[in-house]
Amino acid sequence: MKQQLVDKFLEIYGEGDGVKAYFAPGRVNLIGEHTDYNGGHVFPCALTVGTYGVARKREDTKVCLYSLNYPECGMVKASLSDLAYRQKDGWGNYPKGVIQTFISKNLKIPCGLDILYYGDIPKGLGIGSSASIEVVTGLILKDLMDYKDLSMIDIALFAQLAENEYVGMSCGIMDPFIIAMGKKDHAVFLDASDLSYIYAPLALPHEKIIITNSQKARLAVDERYQERRAQCEKALEELQTVIAIRNLGELTAEVFEQVQEMIGSPVRLRRARHAVTENQRTIQAVEALKRGDIFELGQLMNASHLSLKEDYEVSCEELDILVEEAWEIDGVLGSRMMGAGFGGCTVSIVENSAVNEFIQRVGENYQKRTGLHADFYVVETGNGAAVL
Ligand code: GLA
Repeated sequence: MKQQLVDKFLEIYGEGDGVKAYFAPGRVNLIGEHTDYNGGHVFPCALTVGTYGVARKREDTKVCLYSLNYPECGMVKASLSDLAYRQKDGWGNYPKGVIQTFISKNLKIPCGLDILYYGDIPKGLGIGSSASIEVVTGLILKDLMDYKDLSMIDIALFAQLAENEYVGMSCGIMDPFIIAMGKKDHAVFLDASDLSYIYAPLALPHEKIIITNSQKARLAVDERYQERRAQCEKALEELQTVIAIRNLGELTAEVFEQVQEMIGSPVRLRRARHAVTENQRTIQAVEALKRGDIFELGQLMNASHLSLKEDYEVSCEELDILVEEAWEIDGVLGSRMMGAGFGGCTVSIVENSAVNEFIQRVGENYQKRTGLHADFYVVETGNGAAVL
């Protein structure tokens, strides 16, 4: 892959030395959904699929970006003195946002860059493709501009900042963090309130992690995401009138029950209840995994789905059908919607012996019930972003 992409780079940008290749993975989140921006825990792993970046410094101050996934967009061109967001630059706004973020943090970018991108993450799945473009760009800048002291966590924070302030999507830290910091055969138990984390061994000798793409377009996901975020913030303010907490992630389910009446609307109460109970489930899931209790991990994933569906209301009919059909199959330990929601994917843990039946029966029944063709990906965990 690396040599092919370097050859392609030379074909597009011309021969010359100083070409280097980089990779940032996609991610799967086992449990802990819509908890990161509520100061709770998440439990994601990095995948082996992701975004490759091949890059070289330029002698001038131009920035030229080309993606093999979007040849119809042509070359996205900008200059270090004008990296403004432009609708017509489409996907190219993600790397531009990261470069702009470096500059706004007073990290000098003395010369321009040529970058070629290629992602083997299928489009629109909600498994972190935009964050992987951002993190790989951050790593390219760190490496080529020789910012040795910049940590991979700094790069994750810059990627989040680019997404929040430049792209305008107020997502949490989960995606860039796991993409920058992931480790093969491990999930990362991250406390999003202070970025403390541990690597939890993810030994699943008898099971596979399967991502199922509902093929349901994720409509208006950004607006609905911001709405959930605002509802949780308001519920937090209401709770802060009686309890000294900085975020919902600090509450146990028991304490939440005692103070929940302070929340002035049933909708906000449900949203906050999800944030609190999901965080508790995530903590329990890590404990279960430490004991090797994959069965309990699966049960917690199932409970997560119900909470996302009923309390947080970020599921949709298609995701619910995929999950219901998965639950019908012996050998499925757990299945739930994953990521922001309103379409996209589910994540399931399936015993090796049940994988074929899972793909066949869930696929067939899903098609019968929705008319849509689901895609299945048996994924492997991988390492975080790296120079190749
Ligand atoms: C998106 C965001 C993450 C997280 C999830 C929901 O993937 O990018 O920060 O909030 O949704 O868990």
